[in-house]
Amino acid sequence: MKMNPFDYTMPLTRIVSGPESLNRLPTEVQALGVTRLLLVHGQRVAGTQLLASVRDRLGPRIVGTYAEVIPHSSVDLVTRGAELARSLRIDGFVSVGGGSSSDTAKGINILLAEGGALPEHASTFVPPDKFYPKELSRPKLPLIALPTTCSGAEITPGLGIRNEQGVKLLFWDVKLASRLVVLGPECLAETPLPIIMTTAMNGLAHCIEGLYSRQRNPISDALALQGIRLFNTALPRLADRHDDPEALAMLQAASALGGMVISNARVGIHHAICHCLGARLNVSHGVANAVMLPYAMRFNLDVAAPRLALAAEAMGVAGNEQAAAEKAVEAVFALQARIGVPQRLRDAGVDRTALQQIARDTMQDRGLYFNPKPVAHAEVVLRLLEEAW
Ligand SMILES: [Fe+2]
Repeated sequence: MKMNPFDYTMPLTRIVSGPESLNRLPTEVQALGVTRLLLVHGQRVAGTQLLASVRDRLGPRIVGTYAEVIPHSSVDLVTRGAELARSLRIDGFVSVGGGSSSDTAKGINILLAEGGALPEHASTFVPPDKFYPKELSRPKLPLIALPTTCSGAEITPGLGIRNEQGVKLLFWDVKLASRLVVLGPECLAETPLPIIMTTAMNGLAHCIEGLYSRQRNPISDALALQGIRLFNTALPRLADRHDDPEALAMLQAASALGGMVISNARVGIHHAICHCLGARLNVSHGVANAVMLPYAMRFNLDVAAPRLALAAEAMGVAGNEQAAAEKAVEAVFALQARIGVPQRLRDAGVDRTALQQIARDTMQDRGLYFNPKPVAHAEVVLRLLEEAW
């Protein structure tokens, strides 16, 4: 194995899991020293028992609620949230929901700390290979997250917010990662199975893309391989028995692992495309991920075979290197079918005429910077999209 020098950052995230974790919320929050929390969530969790339990346990520590989160969030939504947060003089956030809820809280957190308008804090990517991360230096407020999907977004220092032009702006600051993540069984108990399945494919994609990313390292490799094992074990079990508690707990751990992987190794062309499908066509991030993953793996196969062979081993389908890598791709196609997630972009409501625009959009996404295979022309992305359509 070739060893390259690497940097590795561990965010200050504490994860608590298990049946007692929700009961531990008051003491855990007390330890963080926060007393004026803004509760951030969207419509889907509005009437849930989970939300009621969080309110119940945090009581007067919650000084306001911002319940307007929509998928992919928006610059306007974050800007209005920041006005509310300022007026309430909050000292922390609690997000209940999927990646869009924690990303909205992180976006508000950026505005409170850095001021100005949200878009000016976004990282920029100039194709084919110039990436300009935006350094956000000011201290950030603590975020407490109760994730109801398997994206692992709350673990990461990154976030994506859609702008008015249908482009996903991407931000990064290690101080934005949640300080506390609660993974109680209640968190997934009220989430519809298709959302669990598709967002878990997003989590699996984090592990697989992290494994072949140009910024991978021995630590992220270890996290990714255990994540792949857990996703690959839990998902078929859940397809057979929708409330299998152990499989759900495995998915929560796997999602956290995926979040840790991309916190350092980052993501590639697969995520670049999924960001654009979401921001431009409103395809949910989980569904986009569920469809595109094996196609993106096949796209990178010729340069990333040794890496995909590791994924194959973690999925229990080993062989010689090239054969194993191909088997990893086939295993993800088989997993799609086994757990009943969409397998083609046409099944995700994507119109074929939109693919050219998505290919052009993808050329502007920083995921191409981390992808193992250089992508110089939108034509290449278009061919990949056509395959998946
Ligand atoms: Fe993702």
